[in-house]
Amino acid sequence: MTLPAFQTPTPTDMRRSMGRFTTGVAVVSADDGSGDPCAMTISSLTSISLEPAILLVSLTQGSRTTTAVDQTGAFAVSILGSRQEALARRFATRGGARFEDLPFDLGRAGLPMIKDALAQLECTVHAAHDVGDHRVFYGEVTDMRWRDGNGLAFYSGRFGDFLDFGHDEVPWLF
Ligand SMILES: Cc1cc2nc3c(=O)[nH]c(=O)nc-3n(C[C@H](O)[C@H](O)[C@H](O)COP(=O)(O)O)c2cc1C
Repeated sequence: MTLPAFQTPTPTDMRRSMGRFTTGVAVVSADDGSGDPCAMTISSLTSISLEPAILLVSLTQGSRTTTAVDQTGAFAVSILGSRQEALARRFATRGGARFEDLPFDLGRAGLPMIKDALAQLECTVHAAHDVGDHRVFYGEVTDMRWRDGNGLAFYSGRFGDFLDFGHDEVPWLF
């Protein structure tokens, strides 16, 4: 199948073309002390540095979670498993108390994280930059844990499974 002609990006085109990059799905959470912790679904999670351990998340400007991360200088990341699509949808829907009636885990720094996630990481903000309509946070990981399982995937606007990982491991990385 051939590609169509090149074009300058609109926001929709940007979403559609970058949507061809299959990602995992995570929830970024923060606690602004209001008694109602905030959180949002993200796919913009990248590992940046191993020593020190630093990751990156890109959060839309003006979101309550973005403001809380700025105010507190801390956030947590929960990497979702393939059975957690409903949670990904819940935390991507505007309005409502997102943790209402939802049991969550508390990390050692006191941040709320999604129960039974594949991995949970608590971070302090190492640096933050406004980039376009998003705010990019580099988080230094202070605490983490993980388990085996299948990851929730996102591709072309749809959730799915990462199932076939039967190929040879990349031994020099692990
Ligand atoms: C799979 C998926 C990935 C997303 N990734 C991001 C992301 O990386 N950054 C972001 O700002 N919003 C992302 N969103 C959108 C937010 O989850 C959504 O806009 C959410 O409602 C924002 O929280 P707010 O309503 O508290 O502002 C994503 C949504 C989905 C479904």
